[in-house]
Amino acid sequence: MTPDATMTTPLLASGGKLLIGGEWREAASGKRFPTVNPANGETLAEIAEGDAPDIDAAVRAARAALDGAWGKMSASERGKILWRIAELLTKYNDEVARLETLDAGKPIAETTRVDVALTAEVFYYYAGATSRIEGATIPVSGPYLNYTLKEPLGVVGLIVPWNFPLLIASRKIAAALAAGNAVVLKPAEETPLTALRLGEIALEAGLPPGALNVVPGFGPTAGAALVAHPGVAGIAFTGETTTGQTIMTNASKTLKKLSLELGGKSPNIVLEDADLELAARGAMSAIFYNKGEVCTAGSRLLAQKSIREALVEKIAERAAKMTQGDTMDPKTRLGAQASKTQLEKIERYVALGKKEGARLVIGGERTAVGDGRGNFFKPTIFDGVRNDMTIAREEIFGPVLSVIEVDDLDHALAVGNETAYGLAAGIWTRDIKKAHRAARALQAGTVWINAYNLYDAASPYGGYKASGFGRESGQAGLEFYLQTKSVWVDLS
Ligand code: NAI
Ligand code: MG
Repeated sequence: MTPDATMTTPLLASGGKLLIGGEWREAASGKRFPTVNPANGETLAEIAEGDAPDIDAAVRAARAALDGAWGKMSASERGKILWRIAELLTKYNDEVARLETLDAGKPIAETTRVDVALTAEVFYYYAGATSRIEGATIPVSGPYLNYTLKEPLGVVGLIVPWNFPLLIASRKIAAALAAGNAVVLKPAEETPLTALRLGEIALEAGLPPGALNVVPGFGPTAGAALVAHPGVAGIAFTGETTTGQTIMTNASKTLKKLSLELGGKSPNIVLEDADLELAARGAMSAIFYNKGEVCTAGSRLLAQKSIREALVEKIAERAAKMTQGDTMDPKTRLGAQASKTQLEKIERYVALGKKEGARLVIGGERTAVGDGRGNFFKPTIFDGVRNDMTIAREEIFGPVLSVIEVDDLDHALAVGNETAYGLAAGIWTRDIKKAHRAARALQAGTVWINAYNLYDAASPYGGYKASGFGRESGQAGLEFYLQTKSVWVDLS
């Protein structure tokens, strides 16, 4: 495809270019790369492919914004702009949701009600936060006045994955902008569309040029250039744990502040006194929501011995009924895996599960939808899984549930914590003592009691252990984007 014919369908008014300093530009190299609809294999658009020179231009534009209109803007005015972005996201919900569905293989019912709606909430939340960023006066010894200023880091680099392209980017963007930083966003190569659409919306909302720059491109090129850039003060990243490790190593050369939200292998514990209907429904959404491409997916179901069989039966019955189909159909519940790479990865894990002796209850294979070119995989349940099997240890990032039998709460907590990760956990029981004991004992950044996958723009989110560090959302989510200055005055 030639660059001129790159947007045969007008998916983006800005034409799939990079957003740098408030302008839409081709990449310095002139290169473009395709972004594909995983539900049917069709190329949706060719997108300008950013690399080191584009990242450098974007960082300079961000710096200029801080030294210019954006940096001089009052906190209240920043808040109003974030509020307008939220209003525009609400107004354009259907259209933005459609873009996300096309690019990421998510069912339209999810992108409309969850991805875009929650993204708007994130901007509303942080719109209210801008003028509540306060320092302190400190009662130091001696005839001195000491107070603190909360200041933005400066230019921050945001690197995001493809599973919740708009929402994950926005949690970072809204907090970074609320705190007064300027942003360079590197969306995932699989899903650049909504990030660019958000760039359009931000300009429409009156965000000064350069406050938000969007540079799609690949990890080892554009992503690595952002991590290496000396003009970038911090990197907030969501993605695979090994990528987080690479970023940490590379960021050490320029001593960047880091927030890393990485993988998970979250335990979802169901005790025998739980409401089994509720627990089955919760376990379903825990693993099959967004086709299992969720960092917090409840991929290990730890079921107490006496109810394990009944519970698995209930989940399997429901899972078999999940509608897999056209992602644009509001009735579709299970979408297409985001890429062929993901699909093949899931197949490798299913084969490993069988080989290591787990019992396949349902699924375990692709399913054809339409012309069969989409990345659809059946909801899959393995029973009889041991916690030392590969499918219980490694993040699969697909609709594959591993059921592990446990004797009692103590056993469940031990098995639950026996993992490198620590992103989330669930516990289902009617006994409040057990529930709260579990909440304390589980080594995870989020614990859901008789629920799973609850999120709110106001509630902090992030990992323990190999799931990373730093918190997103809520007041805690602002902290990363701020630094504290201590100011002394001699009053003698
Ligand atoms: P990834 O972690 O490689 O990609 C995420 C983002 O990081 C993308 O924007 C990518 O371009 C960027 N990136 C990659 N290498 C980079 C580098 N050296 N420097 C800077 N940026 C870099 O994840 P990928 O390859 O898309 O997926 C692989 C596996 O990771 C998945 O199968 C899944 O298991 C896991 N994953 C976990 C996520 C989570 O939220 N827990 C999200 C996405 C993937
Ligand atoms: Mg990768």
